[in-house]
Amino acid sequence: MIFTIAIDGPAAAGKGTISRRLAERFGFAHLDTGLLYRAVGALELQGQDAVAAANALDPSDLEREDLRTPEVAQAASRVAAIGAVRQALVDFQRDFARREGGAVLDGRDIGTVICPEAEVKLFVTASAEVRAERRFKELSEKGIDTDYPSVLADVAARDRRDTERADAPMRAAEDAVVLDTSEMDIETAVARAEKEVSAALDKR
Ligand code: DC
Repeated sequence: MIFTIAIDGPAAAGKGTISRRLAERFGFAHLDTGLLYRAVGALELQGQDAVAAANALDPSDLEREDLRTPEVAQAASRVAAIGAVRQALVDFQRDFARREGGAVLDGRDIGTVICPEAEVKLFVTASAEVRAERRFKELSEKGIDTDYPSVLADVAARDRRDTERADAPMRAAEDAVVLDTSEMDIETAVARAEKEVSAALDKR
């Protein structure tokens, strides 16, 4: 069975958790496409050319320990605005999306550019303040030294860059279901997402 679930939205809106839970529940493979851009960003921070790094990206690059740091997140957002970097990563994502057995991909442009034919499209969002609060908690729990105002500034800068870039800007596909999780707990959001997927599977 070929069945793609496309989940887009800004950082810390809940798309990672929703994607993992959907993949588990329906037995689908999951690709966090942000990791691809983070891996390229991390290689660029080490002095490599971003386009060359994207073209030579190896699955082992996605397993680096440092991909979750705020510095790498900013670098990812920066290299993600380079058209040739995005182009280098398209085929890998499309092949993953149309693999046998079903796939969940989360990112910024899955429903609009990578997989416009996805069977289910969700756009998961929340206010910048709520997302910054969640991210600040996560980072503090991991022992990363930071404060709420800088996390909020980072979130806002990344939102701006991801929405305003010319190539594949972050936006909801016209046929996406928008889930605003600002005032929703994660269990409710997961349940809503599961309902959308079950309904689409039933229709086949
Ligand atoms: O989802 P994330 O926070 O790991 O993503 C890191 C950056 O990568 C994000 O700021 C923008 C970029 N990105 C993108 O442009 N397109 C995607 N499909 C996924 C991520």
